[in-house]
Amino acid sequence: MTDVFLNGTFVSAAQASISPMDRGFLFADGVYEVIPAFNGVLFRLNEHLLRLQRSLSALQIQNPHSAQVWQALCKELLVRNGRGNSSVYLQITRGAPEKRDHGFPVPPAQPTVFMATSPIPASSISDSAAAPGAAAIVADDIRWGRCDIKAIALLPNIMLRQQAIAAGAAEAILVRDGLVTEGSSTNVFVVKDGEIATPPCSRMILAGVTRELVVELCRQHELPLAEQEIPRERLYDADEIWVTSSSKDALPIVSLDGHPVGSGRPGPRWRALAQHFLNYKQTVCRLA
Ligand SMILES: Cc1ncc(COP(=O)(O)O)c(C=O)c1O
Repeated sequence: MTDVFLNGTFVSAAQASISPMDRGFLFADGVYEVIPAFNGVLFRLNEHLLRLQRSLSALQIQNPHSAQVWQALCKELLVRNGRGNSSVYLQITRGAPEKRDHGFPVPPAQPTVFMATSPIPASSISDSAAAPGAAAIVADDIRWGRCDIKAIALLPNIMLRQQAIAAGAAEAILVRDGLVTEGSSTNVFVVKDGEIATPPCSRMILAGVTRELVVELCRQHELPLAEQEIPRERLYDADEIWVTSSSKDALPIVSLDGHPVGSGRPGPRWRALAQHFLNYKQTVCRLA
């Protein structure tokens, strides 16, 4: 049984309990982060904590901890649960006031803080020559108008992911008003004639920490990249599609709605990016 962190204490997961009055439970009134750690080293921690602060500020929830304390808590949890490749899940809700009421409680309740770890499966970049790639479907983006907040309210995302699973695919790529937004839990990159494109940050997508790293790596290594709107049709004549997230790194999509993407195999731009990504990760996380 692994340990979790709940409201100031480390306890075994079986012993952790929260009040049914918690606004996370009643209203999905809270935010979260998933922070990967490779070889026990937290990856892009600052970027995750900055996004956490943006999400909390958008919901007017006080950040319960400083960056130093978050870092110490993440490290302690990783040590307790084994230091391999794991992600730290961190959730903060608006707490558990006495009364259920849509308005924010006055005075504010103590936020509920929950943290847990889970293992990260090996990513496709660790052996890019052998990576098979994955399948995706295209689906209507049925989410709300503040997808930039990393809110725990994920009902549309889980419905869309389930739609993908039912079609034998790994991810749903979402389209709103004819334009690609992102995946159900990933950001999207599309390659055509060597040019890499990803939708610009806006309230319609989550500013992925991995997206930002991929943009940085492309710029640094002179892979041509533009942050621009991507029409739905571009997905169907793309040479390559990748989806990115903290637990998947950059995953090549080789089949879309049952049709091959480009050659139907991970493409040359992805292989180049995967190598730069792996080098970066190995350096930062001191991997062998
Ligand atoms: C909707 C959505 N977009 C993008 C991402 C990727 O973000 P990150 O790279 O920070 O993990 C996630 C991750 O959970 C997500 O839920």
